[in-house]
Amino acid sequence: MNLRAKIGISVIGSVAALGLSFSIAQADAVTDRQEAMKQVGDAMKAIAAIAKGEAAFDAAVVKANAEIMAKQFAAAKTMFPDGSETGEKPSRAKPEVWSDKDGFMKLLDDSITGANAVAAVTEESALRPALGALGNNSCKACHEKFRKPKE
Ligand code: HEC
Repeated sequence: MNLRAKIGISVIGSVAALGLSFSIAQADAVTDRQEAMKQVGDAMKAIAAIAKGEAAFDAAVVKANAEIMAKQFAAAKTMFPDGSETGEKPSRAKPEVWSDKDGFMKLLDDSITGANAVAAVTEESALRPALGALGNNSCKACHEKFRKPKE
């Protein structure tokens, strides 16, 4: 499957996720997005273990986890509605999420593309560069700008 087809599928996935996450987001958007990010974190850890040589390279495992990330990034686009700066639990989202909504949403879109690039990796040698790019341009870039430090 080529990258374009994958992106197509993730778009379909995100449309499906949109309907689903809407009702959840109304219950508590903060809980919802923290859960989505936790899944992203767990998927990242599974792939990082392979990249670090702690687990054997398995393209299917890489793909499955990278697709979880792409799906959760797509779902996250609906999980920061106006007025959800705080929820039932304290949120670490910075006010910039709402004051620079375009920048935030673009980073999520770029992150979907980056996760899809990781999902497309079939050679072990291509994993580190793709994962490194995602780590820097997605996780690190967004957390530095849009996430408060731990209290
Ligand atoms: C476009 C922005 C954005 C991107 C991209 C992003 N994050 Fe996050 N992440 C956030 C924000 C904002 C929070 C805080 C959410 C809150 O507390 O309301 C967060 C929280 C988290 C958390 C804590 C979840 C919890 O239990 O509270 C983890 C883990 C995490 N991110 C992992 C990752 C990883 C790994 C990546 C990259 C593969 C990533 N994130 C990419 C914005 C982003």
